[in-house]
Amino acid sequence: MQTIAVLNQKGGVGKTTTALNLSASITRKNLSATLIDLDSQGHLTKVFESYPEDVSKTIFGFYSDKTPLQKLLIDWQNIGKFIPSHQELIKVETKYGNGPEILFKLGNGLKTFNAHAPQDFIVLDCPANTGVLCLSAIFAADLVIIPIASDHFSLAGAKRIEFVLGALERVLKRRVSRCYLTTRFDKRRKISSETYQEAQQKFGDELLDTIIYENVALTNSVKNHQDIFTFDSKSTGAKNYGELLEELIQNKWLEVTEKLSL
Ligand SMILES: Nc1ncnc2c1ncn2[C@@H]1O[C@H](COP(=O)(O)OP(=O)(O)OP(=O)(O)O)[C@@H](O)[C@H]1O
Ligand SMILES: [Mg+2]
Repeated sequence: MQTIAVLNQKGGVGKTTTALNLSASITRKNLSATLIDLDSQGHLTKVFESYPEDVSKTIFGFYSDKTPLQKLLIDWQNIGKFIPSHQELIKVETKYGNGPEILFKLGNGLKTFNAHAPQDFIVLDCPANTGVLCLSAIFAADLVIIPIASDHFSLAGAKRIEFVLGALERVLKRRVSRCYLTTRFDKRRKISSETYQEAQQKFGDELLDTIIYENVALTNSVKNHQDIFTFDSKSTGAKNYGELLEELIQNKWLEVTEKLSL
């Protein structure tokens, strides 16, 4: 089982869109994925049409009642298994401190989960901050994907995440594998290519070749409670998110086993 955390402290850069469509892309390859919404805003949870109102059946139940992750799974057609969020999750950021217990909780919970309901991949949709939930996602992750929407603020957010990863590595005593993903690239806007070039200089080989272009089908798919492949498999968005998984596997960002080879 490999855990992928999608994060950037800047909002609106495509974290949720990436987590959703990466999970769908994995599922389309007949691999198993569990998508977890770690954001109290619950944007991903709102994409899922009939999410539970009962807070104990959401990821908050794991943090507050110690409900095992495997007991919170919902089936999400074409996307995999899903654990929704709830606005109460904000309490984890404010009331549970930031000690080792909370920081390692998700990683430990996922180890137990793997023993009971093994999955090929876990995909974590993180909030737009570097609070305790985001840090615990980094602690749990085998790979961190940092979307950079084509503007200077999201590049600044990515640089901040790089700094945070460097600080955490001293605690974790291991390098956190990370890659940067260009999102919302608009060929007509100079700022898109400027941001891309700056990201290339800053992050080098860790900037993925895959580019997720600005594509209205991606916005509309979410409004329709669907992943991009179900909504419009011929769209640029579907092509780009397909390319993303392919690159992650081909270039060994994700571990390739016999089952995973394309
Ligand atoms: N490549 C794209 N083309 C067009 N629209 C996009 C693209 N990526 C994301 N969007 C749209 O931009 C908005 C923000 O995207 P998304 O919710 O994925 O970002 P986020 O980083 O998760 O935001 P937040 O920090 O608020 O959680 C959404 O309306 C989404 O549909
Ligand atoms: Mg989001």
